[in-house]
Amino acid sequence: MIVETEQILHMNGGEGETSYARNSLLQRKVISEVKPILEESVTKLYNTLFPDCLKVGDLGCSSGPNALLVASEIIDTIDAKSRSLNRQPPTFQIFLNDLPGNDFNTIFKSLPNFYKALENEKGSQFGPCFIAGIPGSFHGRLFPANSMHFFHSSCSAHWLSQVPKGLTDGLAPVKNKGNIYVTHSSSPAVYRAFVEQFQQDFKLFLRSRSEELVPGGSMVVTIGGRTETEELVSPWGLLGMTLNDMVLENLIEEEKLENFDIPLYYPTAEEVRQVIDTESV
Ligand SMILES: C[S@@+](CC[C@H](N)C(=O)[O-])C[C@H]1O[C@@H](n2cnc3c(N)ncnc32)[C@H](O)[C@@H]1O
Repeated sequence: MIVETEQILHMNGGEGETSYARNSLLQRKVISEVKPILEESVTKLYNTLFPDCLKVGDLGCSSGPNALLVASEIIDTIDAKSRSLNRQPPTFQIFLNDLPGNDFNTIFKSLPNFYKALENEKGSQFGPCFIAGIPGSFHGRLFPANSMHFFHSSCSAHWLSQVPKGLTDGLAPVKNKGNIYVTHSSSPAVYRAFVEQFQQDFKLFLRSRSEELVPGGSMVVTIGGRTETEELVSPWGLLGMTLNDMVLENLIEEEKLENFDIPLYYPTAEEVRQVIDTESV
């Protein structure tokens, strides 16, 4: 059975013990490490375009504290910059995007407090700021052409639109026996299927953004990846081994494990560069 990944994929919603909101410290750390690059990029953009209304999209925002963290970093940076230039800060329009199964409700419920904190912190000179949810896949168009100034995406663009085609399509689909992700024990054909799916998806991601950005617009995208020399190990490899043990102990059916793969791929910098180079000619 082929399940439509983008219709069902979501992080755990709410604020309970197993929610993404309470299990996303690693992703929070990534956002804070990238903060200097984000500040530099968004400041450069502001200094070039000076938009009256700065339109920003955060792609794959999920839910929980990280969802509004980037928005507040961007607002802080531009607010401080415009004040230092004696300019009226721009209006902020921030679009939080994720797949339709994302827990947007929890984000929306936190907005009144977010707006109040901004008002208290920045005073009457500020903004205003408008935040909206955009459910949909970043592998396609999400915004009108030439309408956005800046995109940000963190720890999201390594998710694939589907389990690699080669593993599901055709009369004799490639099998990723005993694994749920591409690992060093996967065959070269499995590895190829994952790379090709990533290349195809990332190409669509870039093409869509290039149509949506205004001339001079920019983006900061952080992707989970691996180095050239690093073995193809990840938590998913460990999870696959555990599930394989469960098959050996007859706790789960072998066929179920054989037909299940995680729709994500951690590319090398070179694999990312190749897609960018092909798209920028
Ligand atoms: C690990 S979370 C990262 C969330 C957040 N950016 C952070 O740094 O904490 C990855 C998010 O990407 C979203 N995602 C995956 N594929 C997507 C797609 N095609 N379009 C939009 N969002 C997607 C997932 O639903 C998930 O919420």
